[in-house]
Amino acid sequence: MRRQSSCGEFRTSVARIFDSTNDDRHEDICMPEIDVRFANIAADRRYKILCSLVIPRPIALVTSMSEDGVVNAAPFSFFNVFGDTPPIIALGLHRRPDRTLKDTTANIHATREFVVNLVDETLAEAMNITAIDFPAQESEIVAANLALTASTDVKVPRIASAPAALECRWVHSVSFTAERELLLAEVVRAWTREGVMDDKFNVDFVAYQPVGRLYYSLYTRKPEVFEMQRIAHADWVKANKP
Ligand SMILES: Cc1cc2nc3c(=O)[nH]c(=O)nc-3n(C[C@H](O)[C@H](O)[C@H](O)COP(=O)(O)O)c2cc1C
Repeated sequence: MRRQSSCGEFRTSVARIFDSTNDDRHEDICMPEIDVRFANIAADRRYKILCSLVIPRPIALVTSMSEDGVVNAAPFSFFNVFGDTPPIIALGLHRRPDRTLKDTTANIHATREFVVNLVDETLAEAMNITAIDFPAQESEIVAANLALTASTDVKVPRIASAPAALECRWVHSVSFTAERELLLAEVVRAWTREGVMDDKFNVDFVAYQPVGRLYYSLYTRKPEVFEMQRIAHADWVKANKP
């Protein structure tokens, strides 16, 4: 790893938050230029670098159902949208430390359906409770005090208090290692609660209040919106003519 620049002046308030929330505690944190080869560092360091640079990540609070009808909820921030035709979303599903499948993964493999419930500020604490590794016989939905309501095109219910929900059908899974699966699914229906989207599909970001994940236990809220119009090539040429 190459470090450049002197330390000290780059210490920030965020560095102090990291100090108090993770395992990398330093007496004197500095922010030099970092240039690191991924093959030379451990997996947890790669995880830390990627998850604190590629931010904020949206959170999918996934409801899924076992073959015998037990509904499960768990959050996933290795989540994003990858196209509109077909409308594809992806989830990065890891195995548990004991290498068993998470309930969400096992349920989607079995039923091929699930719902992505989007997370707002009101739902954030309940979302965090659903991430607790409850034994199979204990429901995270009950523990988090979440009410479910029927979906339309999939059998799996959605979370009634979510600001928005995407009904999904499994399309394809790619396993890079036994522990890591990239799961692709098609969105077959979107639902939003009143006040979030108008009939031209414009979203009111203030009413929506989405929560994003930073690294570890850090989250972000209240997106600060600014506008920047796309520039047509002809306009660019006109504006930049010598
Ligand atoms: C905000 C947040 C995001 C998470 N993102 C992921 C993720 O992208 N992939 C993953 O495998 N686990 C992720 N987890 C951990 C799972 O939610 C956790 O392992 C959960 O217990 C799985 O539940 P399940 O066995 O009911 O599916 C995340 C946890 C939190 C709190």
